[in-house]
Amino acid sequence: MLVVIKKDYQEVSREAARIVAGTVRAKPDIVLGLATGSTPLGLYKELVALYQTGSLDFSRATSFNLDEYLGLAHSHPQSFHHFMHHNFLSQINLPADRAHIPDGTITGKYDEYCAGYEQAIKSAGGIELQILGIGRNGHIGFNEPTSSLASRTRLKALSRETAEDNRHFFSSASEMPQCAITMGIGTILDSRRVLLLASGRSKAAAVAKAIEGPITSSVSASALQMHPDVTFIIDEEAAYSLTQRDYYRHVVEMTKIFTPERLD
Ligand code: GLP
Repeated sequence: MLVVIKKDYQEVSREAARIVAGTVRAKPDIVLGLATGSTPLGLYKELVALYQTGSLDFSRATSFNLDEYLGLAHSHPQSFHHFMHHNFLSQINLPADRAHIPDGTITGKYDEYCAGYEQAIKSAGGIELQILGIGRNGHIGFNEPTSSLASRTRLKALSRETAEDNRHFFSSASEMPQCAITMGIGTILDSRRVLLLASGRSKAAAVAKAIEGPITSSVSASALQMHPDVTFIIDEEAAYSLTQRDYYRHVVEMTKIFTPERLD
């Protein structure tokens, strides 16, 4: 696990964009795992800018999003479909038929739909690089606390904390979805590389538990400790509660000298 501590949100976004862009250039037919939330917005802006200057091409890439609210039309301004199209997909040349986002408009046969999403990821060759944010309660995707660490894509009831965090985006409390479709923790752990981005003091406790706490289903992100290739890119504020910040900086310095490709 690499923990890269950057000064602020902008540096986090730039570092993540450097890694994603480098990976897409090295493997143009890459399968990307994408996330929503305010955290990856800066990364998407940087990637769009690289695409617009002609230095990045997504024409052979495929993407799978982590999650989607259940019950929102794709056009709903708070749906993750809308978020992804508005903030990223409509501004790059990733073919629309290869951009996958769980369909929150389905009604019934949820397990069947979710098994199909898993199969689509598998058929595409598996996710090469998964982008993640982290919820205040340590969730990744919408894998709320106590989600099985072996879980796969499924319907998940949202926790009260997540509902509270997101309610203000909706015009009324009753409009806030109570469930979501999310990749499971097992699905995420199958991706070959994971980049988790976090910014701000509100994420410090979750980040510390994920990196330094015990592996527990109470903090979904702690499952990443079992993944062989995870990079946390976090700012000083999000790193605030980590007890071993100096060691993580030392590890990054040593990595630059001995295995710099791990930072590409
Ligand atoms: C939602 C998403 C997560 C995201 C989290 C944090 O719950 N399902 O994928 O990481 O919010 O969002 P933000 O980056 O806005 O803090």
